[in-house]
Amino acid sequence: MKTRIQRSRGFKGEIRIPADKSISHRAAIIGSLASGMTEIKNFSSAADCLATLNCLQMIGVEVKKNKENEVSLIGKSLFGYREPENTLDAQNSGTTARLLLGLLSGQSFFSVINGDSSLQTRPMKRVVDPLRKMGARIEGRNDAYHLPLAIKGQSLKRIKFKLPLPSAQLKSAVILAGLLSEGETEINEPVPSRDHTERMLDYLGAEIKKDKKVIRVQGKNKFKAKKIIVSGDFSSACFFVAAALLAEDSEIIIPDIGINPTRIGFLKAAERMGGNIKVHEKKERCNEPLATLSVSSSDLKGIKIKPEEIPVLIDEIPLIALLATQANGVTEVHGASELRVKESDRIRAIVVNFRRMGVDLEEKEDGFIIEGPQRLKGASVESFGDHRIAMTMAIAGLVADGETEIKDFDCFGISFPDFYSLLGRWQKDG
Ligand code: S3P
Repeated sequence: MKTRIQRSRGFKGEIRIPADKSISHRAAIIGSLASGMTEIKNFSSAADCLATLNCLQMIGVEVKKNKENEVSLIGKSLFGYREPENTLDAQNSGTTARLLLGLLSGQSFFSVINGDSSLQTRPMKRVVDPLRKMGARIEGRNDAYHLPLAIKGQSLKRIKFKLPLPSAQLKSAVILAGLLSEGETEINEPVPSRDHTERMLDYLGAEIKKDKKVIRVQGKNKFKAKKIIVSGDFSSACFFVAAALLAEDSEIIIPDIGINPTRIGFLKAAERMGGNIKVHEKKERCNEPLATLSVSSSDLKGIKIKPEEIPVLIDEIPLIALLATQANGVTEVHGASELRVKESDRIRAIVVNFRRMGVDLEEKEDGFIIEGPQRLKGASVESFGDHRIAMTMAIAGLVADGETEIKDFDCFGISFPDFYSLLGRWQKDG
């Protein structure tokens, strides 16, 4: 599906953002490892999270959809899963594939995990390597570099592992395998990445500790199910934060949004750029901090994003590029080569699309340099099949002259199925 977006202004009112995708994946996977029934309130209806639920059902987890966005599942107390009769399909979801690799490695059966054509190009070896050191037997094309991967579950041994890159998916896969193994697994995390796995395990009473940069997780670590309420998705909120910052005469409120410090790098960067953002009504629920955000139109200035900041704003870098086109001065992003192996090559996608909209920008192997402000001209751009690129270009369309056409737009449902209807409200009012 193609969509057309018109220039718009005056975004007002409250926007309710649906559930966090990363936390929903973990609620389902970690809930399935617990003993007893996990009730999950505000479970994400993103396609990626439904892929996780399907895979769990295929390994014997009983999942009930109680009402909209509410699911319950019966935990398998670490080892009660069963061999799947067919290939597990992670679809477009890196989190599903990588976290399940950790869980499946320590089970006593055979399984195969695959994904769509985008996921089949994404690196899996980074997860396979530490799991093999723990005794996992995983085989696949290119020495298990890419999906599909076949896993012959084994009893695993503990590992001392230093993360070679700041990846929450890799870290979480090793933590989940660590839960299933003998002894205490130690993970050294030089640069922090999102810590939802650690927080949720701690919330459920599993033995997991973080001391400075080292995470320690006890093997054969049984824990009990508890009700989980998922926060609003900060990454989804950022599309509307960016729109309100850039469009004239805007003032919006976003309640109940997760503000986990390992996720909110975009907020900090936007504040440094001069963005009017207030964070209030802070609270804590299920071991995750959340708050209400108020955002209004702002005059922005260019900033330098440091490589250490990248993991805490990794998914929001396309939006940083958009803000940079409208900010006064130079914005530089470095140390973000991981973007080249996301759902699309996001550096290329940013460069190709913004050039089509008339922006002069410099592509780097690990980032980009943009000098603003530059007028965005409505143009025909591509999603590259990548949800975050599709949605970033839709927000760009709101502040561009004339009309912007986005090809292959419907992939936004991968993380944010309500995006189009929320955006539509502004297209009519604008
Ligand atoms: C995710 C971690 C991030 C992020 C992805 C979701 C997660 O990837 O880009 O959208 O839920 O753990 P890495 O930390 O593995 O780079």
